[in-house]
Amino acid sequence: MGAPSDTSRYAKGFDIPVRGDTITADRYISQEFMALENQHLWPKVWHLGGMVAELEQEGDYVRHNLGTESVIMIRQADSSIKAFYNSCPHRGNRLVLGDIGGSDRITCGYHGWQFAPDGVLVNVQDPDDFPDGNPCGKVTLSEVRCETWGPFIFYCMDSEVKPLLDWLAPLPERLKDYGLDNWIRVMYLSADADFNWKIIRDNFNESYHLPTIHPELSTFINDGLPDTLFEMYETGHNAMWMKGHQATTRNPEFHTGDVPSPLDDVARAWEVDPADFNGHTGDIREAIIAAKRRLGPERGFTNYENMSDQQLVDYFHCTLFPNLTITMSPEQCQILRTEPHPTDPQKCVFHHWVIAPPVKGMTEVETPIGPMPLEWAENRHSVYGDGQSVGYVADQDLSIGTSQQQGLNSRGFSGCILTHQEKRVQRFHELLNDYVHPDVSTDIINSDQLR
Ligand SMILES: [Fe+2]
Repeated sequence: MGAPSDTSRYAKGFDIPVRGDTITADRYISQEFMALENQHLWPKVWHLGGMVAELEQEGDYVRHNLGTESVIMIRQADSSIKAFYNSCPHRGNRLVLGDIGGSDRITCGYHGWQFAPDGVLVNVQDPDDFPDGNPCGKVTLSEVRCETWGPFIFYCMDSEVKPLLDWLAPLPERLKDYGLDNWIRVMYLSADADFNWKIIRDNFNESYHLPTIHPELSTFINDGLPDTLFEMYETGHNAMWMKGHQATTRNPEFHTGDVPSPLDDVARAWEVDPADFNGHTGDIREAIIAAKRRLGPERGFTNYENMSDQQLVDYFHCTLFPNLTITMSPEQCQILRTEPHPTDPQKCVFHHWVIAPPVKGMTEVETPIGPMPLEWAENRHSVYGDGQSVGYVADQDLSIGTSQQQGLNSRGFSGCILTHQEKRVQRFHELLNDYVHPDVSTDIINSDQLR
């Protein structure tokens, strides 16, 4: 990978070295690579399983399916949360079939075995008919590590992986001032999609596609390369700061002309007159920072006071290894991720959540699929392409995902050619390579140079 022409535009951390492993199509297509991920990747990373607030009382649970695996997270009597594999120890039947529920017993639908919320078997049919005696009180569900960060529940299937907050570093610290703890998930969409899960990971690890795929963002998000800050962290996660409330510097006329729409409406909503900024529209960002500081608290945005100016108006787009994206604005947190299909490497499951602060007096939140009530939303699952939106911008990304998967199947494709600003894509694949080839020296999987 050659040096960029102007290194000053890259944030600290962007100098983390990459090897230049060639990114070929097999990892998006082959059963062999999928099997390596199932063996070496998914069991060894932390997964976002649900939200703490969904579990109000003892016995409440959420379920998370991941490829062929399924895990349930259950509120305990002492208010802690335990996670278990969603599999009956009797004959392996999946215990919980819904996304969310609650009961003082988890009952297997096959032979009626019952488990307490702490995973202990408490009731079976014909308890005296076991060669080793009644199994109640002895048999338990198989437990999975479970920890929380802010409003989120995570689980991990491996005992060696570091604790959750160390794993997530430095993002809990970087996101602390948004005050996420009491935010409400107002949108929860998922969809089966016809591409490998990494297609969208790559997409979220670069902003190079924005002018082509999301041109409508350019009037209120500055996607100009010199204005975008990329960050890479030692823990393998990445982030990007995109200037908000400012038009792209890729189109100078947006800055020297009148304030473009919908930025003008956003300004008016904060009592800033866009006419005052015609000819120098880039300055409107500072005016909105001042207006948010002045008007935010009385409008119920109590979390503004702890935020930096950057957090008040910009988008902080965090891509956590391997498959979780958290995009922050002061009024909204979007969670986007793709998860592996149980059997087909050329398919995945896409998730899109919107989480919003409980602003006093607010009853509705503007989301990527339109206004939603400011209250908890349950999962709405669809198949991508059936006409149900998974979010306006996400729809655009998913449409490319489908055509990219098709193109990757061509025998004419021989490996990615990346720009410097796509270094996060390169790094993601190298971390992945290290996971799926744990016994192979990095020298062997190195290619000579990033092509
Ligand atoms: Fe995109």
